[in-house]
Amino acid sequence: MTNEILKEINSIDWNFKGAWTQEGIHGLHWYPGVFIPQIANNLVRLLTSRGEKILDPFCGCGTTLVEAIKLGRVAIGMDCNPMAVLISKVKCYEYSVESLRRKLSSICERSADRLLDNQRHDISASHEMLRDWFSPTTLMDLLSIWNNINHYAENEDKIFFRVCLSHVLKSSSSQEKHWGWVADNVTPKNLKDKDILKMFASHCEEMIRALEKIYYQTRDIVDMQIDAAHKSDAFLHDCRQPIKCVEEVDAIITSPPYPSVIDYTKAHRLSYYLFGWNLNADKEIEIGARWKRTRKTQLDQYVEDILGSFENINRVLKKGGLIGMVIDATKRKRNVLSESSYVDIARLLVEHFKYENLSGYIKRKYSDQRIVDSLGRQNSEHIVILKKT
Ligand SMILES: C[S@@+](CC[C@H](N)C(=O)[O-])C[C@H]1O[C@@H](n2cnc3c(N)ncnc32)[C@H](O)[C@@H]1O
Repeated sequence: MTNEILKEINSIDWNFKGAWTQEGIHGLHWYPGVFIPQIANNLVRLLTSRGEKILDPFCGCGTTLVEAIKLGRVAIGMDCNPMAVLISKVKCYEYSVESLRRKLSSICERSADRLLDNQRHDISASHEMLRDWFSPTTLMDLLSIWNNINHYAENEDKIFFRVCLSHVLKSSSSQEKHWGWVADNVTPKNLKDKDILKMFASHCEEMIRALEKIYYQTRDIVDMQIDAAHKSDAFLHDCRQPIKCVEEVDAIITSPPYPSVIDYTKAHRLSYYLFGWNLNADKEIEIGARWKRTRKTQLDQYVEDILGSFENINRVLKKGGLIGMVIDATKRKRNVLSESSYVDIARLLVEHFKYENLSGYIKRKYSDQRIVDSLGRQNSEHIVILKKT
């Protein structure tokens, strides 16, 4: 990396205060603790060149992947959360918007007329769990949409519609508070009817328009992006295990999970119930999950998991490759054990893997909306650029 680039990195105001972060396909599905597209975009642009391969081993909802593809880079995402992987996959596919529109209209017509629906929903054990969150009518509508998606759509299209339905689960449930209440399994007291079909249809339409906009940009940009998108993908993977699906990458751009801040798996509880995934097994795999914060060994376990993950990540990064990371910088107290839960991941990686820290610690503030727990707001992060020597 040249001194010019380093200078530019230091001159950027990484706070991006007031920046719109849900532009186009970024709004496909809500996700807690994401980094904003402007950060991913600048890291991709400054640390890599067109055609190079980037890995985001903790890809969440695929912010890095979208920005990498936009800039003509190949991006591979990994995450242990199956919802994260599906969202990220949709963001890499090249869709036929005409086909999506046709299927959407079949799904909606059929779902609107539940009298015609002769499948009469055998409610699976997993779908039973949804009874506590949705009114009986809304639940029947939800399952009708789900069945019609399965009936009318296949492959990538099916994933698109399932992800759009998953996105409206929280807002169509009767839990009207923050997603943290869903994570903590606080079921609503009163069940209210919601127009889930309308929410689903309008979200699908909005996302189809977002896809259309990508495909109608100038042709040579689109060709470059489509080529990158064809080679990009996301995989379900626990990073503490060896990485087999990628050989060598030019750069890592990521934001690893912070300790004791968010429950990514539990936050997607409603999607787990709808898709029939195993929430209890997956929440164990999640590094730094908030629910583990009362365990005495939690911080040691976190450090072990992060270092174990980077052993695997380091193996696929080429020599001289760069790592652009957003990491926690907030020295908050733990609410059970009174020690600080701050872990300096950059220092750990420099000590353990002899990486060179090229940028030092560039401080940025979180956006105001990001309330993380009952103790208050988590308010700062660091951008760090490391080099594998
Ligand atoms: C800070 S978030 C990343 C958000 C992402 N930058 C985005 O913009 O969406 C950290 C991610 O690490 C994932 N994660 C936690 N433990 C993991 C593990 N063992 N293997 C792979 N991913 C893991 C979580 O599911 C979460 O999506």
